[in-house]
Amino acid sequence: MSNVTIMDHPLIKHKIGYVRRKETGTKDFRQTISEIAMLICYEATRNLQLQDVDIETPIGPATVQELKGRKLCIVPILRAGLGMVDGMLTLIPTAKVGHIGLYRDPKTLEPVEYYCKLPPDCAEREVFLVDPMLATGGSISAALTMLKQRGCRKIHLMCILAATQGIERIQKDHPDVDIFVGAEDKELNDHAYIVPGLGDAGDRIFGTK
Ligand code: PRP
Ligand code: URA
Repeated sequence: MSNVTIMDHPLIKHKIGYVRRKETGTKDFRQTISEIAMLICYEATRNLQLQDVDIETPIGPATVQELKGRKLCIVPILRAGLGMVDGMLTLIPTAKVGHIGLYRDPKTLEPVEYYCKLPPDCAEREVFLVDPMLATGGSISAALTMLKQRGCRKIHLMCILAATQGIERIQKDHPDVDIFVGAEDKELNDHAYIVPGLGDAGDRIFGTK
């Protein structure tokens, strides 16, 4: 069963409360989603491996620790996942960025794939799949399958909000994927929106509604 980490940091709780507010406008919503992504990234990268390296400081020799091994790749699910990329790159600026285009058909709620462009060496990279919203889990489960079909093996998932149902779906479909979530909400409404949630993340990030 995959590992689920729900954030308990006060800064993340405060910022999630702010993006839930319906009066939070596009500029502040986008900025705060980016900040929350950066804070979740800090937790999601906690287990990256380190190696000892001998260096010279201006005063003398020292052994320091640097990130070891696998290189990193951030993969946002278009569109809303784009809102998490800048915050991630603030902490891991050398990561490559791939893109997966999926949208949820409003009638069937099934994910529709329209784009996939990943770094050519993505199979050798540790991947952070990012999407602010995990609702039914259909979109993210499909994106994880797309990554695995292209050889990715070590994958972490990062979401701002997740419904219990969506978490359970990913645990069932992809038990090998670690899940990092800003906050968990228990319910979905009749249109499969997270309740209380924050509305349509893509529309609020890009001001399209
Ligand atoms: C949203 C969200 C997820 C998906 C979650 O994207 O960003 O990708 O819905 O729903 P699910 O867990 O039930 O699949 P949306 O389809 O609205 O596309 P957008 O990002 O282009 O607005
Ligand atoms: N997608 C969103 O943007 N919000 C939800 O609550 C569910 C899916």
